[in-house]
Amino acid sequence: MSNYHIKNLEEYFQVYRKSVRDPENFWEEIAEENFMWRKRWDKVLEYDLSKPEVSWYKGAKLNITENCIDRHLYARGNKTAIIFEPNNPSEEAEHITYNQLHDRVCRFANVLLDHGVKKGDRVCIYLPMIPELAVSLLACARIGAIHSVVFAGFSSTALHTRINDSDCKMVITSDGSYRGGKTIDLKGIVDEAMNSCPNVKTVLVAKRMNSEITMKEGRDKWLQPLLDEASNQCAPEIMDAEDPLFILYTSGSTGKPKGMVHTTAGYMVFTAYTFKNVFQYRENDVYWCTADIGWVTGHSYIVYGPLANGATTVLFEGVPSYPDFGRFWQVIEKHKINQFYTAPTAIRALAKERLDFSANYDLSSLKILGSVGEPINEEAWHWYNDNIGKKNCPIVDTWWQTETGGIMISPIPYSTPTIPTYATLPLPGIQPALMDENGDELKGNLVSGRLCIKFPWPGMARTIWNNHERYRETYFSTFKNNYFSGDGALRDSTGYYRITGRVDDVIIVSGHNLGTAPIEDAINEHPAVAESAIVGFPHDVKGNALYGFVILKETGETRLHENLRKEINQIITEHIGPIAKLDKIQFTTGLPKTRSGKIMRRILRKIAEKDTNNLGDISTLLNPEVVQEIMDGAI
Ligand code: PRX
Repeated sequence: MSNYHIKNLEEYFQVYRKSVRDPENFWEEIAEENFMWRKRWDKVLEYDLSKPEVSWYKGAKLNITENCIDRHLYARGNKTAIIFEPNNPSEEAEHITYNQLHDRVCRFANVLLDHGVKKGDRVCIYLPMIPELAVSLLACARIGAIHSVVFAGFSSTALHTRINDSDCKMVITSDGSYRGGKTIDLKGIVDEAMNSCPNVKTVLVAKRMNSEITMKEGRDKWLQPLLDEASNQCAPEIMDAEDPLFILYTSGSTGKPKGMVHTTAGYMVFTAYTFKNVFQYRENDVYWCTADIGWVTGHSYIVYGPLANGATTVLFEGVPSYPDFGRFWQVIEKHKINQFYTAPTAIRALAKERLDFSANYDLSSLKILGSVGEPINEEAWHWYNDNIGKKNCPIVDTWWQTETGGIMISPIPYSTPTIPTYATLPLPGIQPALMDENGDELKGNLVSGRLCIKFPWPGMARTIWNNHERYRETYFSTFKNNYFSGDGALRDSTGYYRITGRVDDVIIVSGHNLGTAPIEDAINEHPAVAESAIVGFPHDVKGNALYGFVILKETGETRLHENLRKEINQIITEHIGPIAKLDKIQFTTGLPKTRSGKIMRRILRKIAEKDTNNLGDISTLLNPEVVQEIMDGAI
């Protein structure tokens, strides 16, 4: 029996039981059998969740790029590591072998060293989905620099906030990016951000568009000439198991974004193990995850997990709708994709289009379909199963988070029977618990509550950059000695988990995690706005969309509401990015508040969802009369 690659349900249960009985032994065997260590660990796990402090493979020394690249060169040097599929289908795809990847990562790493980047320094990466993005992550990891990727759809304000929070000394960007039929002036956004980033010494610029941009003397440098001159050999920096590998920002329900810190050895073992099992990856498979590397899904399941397994992973620059809605299916046919991993929002958008967009392509290479980022509704699940998988490909509905580093609850294809909308069973090593509101664990089946994890796992984030107290408070204070995910879930009669959605003020829009507070802060910057509150409401493509309730200042504002709506969305775009724009904006004279002044979002949510039959007791509100006004004005 191999712990590493589970092949049937019986084996899953055996491995699972073993992993819970003796987690240290379980994760030790996986680490022993599958990776390249410069020095073995002294202790597999040390932890104290009250602090919380967690250390996996303490004392071990390694470099993750040796595991993702060098280790494969002997047997797989000429195997394709990355297939780059450009935005425009008429531009040729690029096949990068493991040998070539080694060459490119070493050159890039030498360029970083030449510019004074050292182990432990932070480097911000703000790039579109081009090969340089994957290469730059690995180049940082090669020399022990901590990468902080910022999704290239974020605005300059969001960018400079993240750069400064982790004090990055370098930014890697490009002269622009293609996104479907549009182009985006990434360098212009970086230039704007740089006005507020005094500590950034160097901006490296990859050429993607040949567009006219301004280069600031002494700060901005074209990347390619530097790569051409650099040596293609770069000895890996030997890292401690718990040295940080990267920071990735995620929204919280309050305050500024949280820089989740992932460390080296545990993250590597966890992403590699989960990739292998959840996608049942076999040596010559071609695997495609459509996420952007700007999100955790791309980090773990485009770059680290697949490469740690010597897989062939596709890096797609484009969007599902360009040049038409058949693009995903065309790429599947073209590269004979075996495992396809995407988000419910993309499935719902494509399911709305004519069926011949998918029917015209040969999808017979597909073996496994994946879903991530938000609950997948039954209709989308069936459309995916019927039209893409042809009822022949298990669908893995994978539940996890930026904080968890990798997949936590998911079927294992060919082993776990799937049910639409159920993420099913925890992966080996993962011990979920459902809690009631009093903090007691709900034992047995047929229960629903708050989803926690009660034992450490190697991929968990170790802290929030520069704010360990916030980490403790957010994840480990609600339920003593448990990690609290912020999600609700139910466990059915067979022990299967179904994720029911966030129980905090985070809203998942098109699979993106958006905190309400930063959006409200942005809106409140508008000179005409006194106060605002954001809630989510169901949307047939995005899953949730944002509904804003806005109180205007009593300044005799004469601008048309329609203009104000545009301006409010403009401010949100500037502060956060277009993904956070509101679908509906209702102006009101008040917001329902408790006597202590807290906005009653539950009531606003019901109004936005048009479910006002049972608003509950509103008599205890400070201003119950406002509820009727808001209901009357609802959009
Ligand atoms: O609410 C859950 C939802 O996405 C949140 C995590 O978002 P993020 O950190 O951006 O990571 C997304 C990619 C892993 C979770 O708290 N979520 C993620 N996957 C699922 C899901 N909700 C239901 N089902 C899923 N499969």
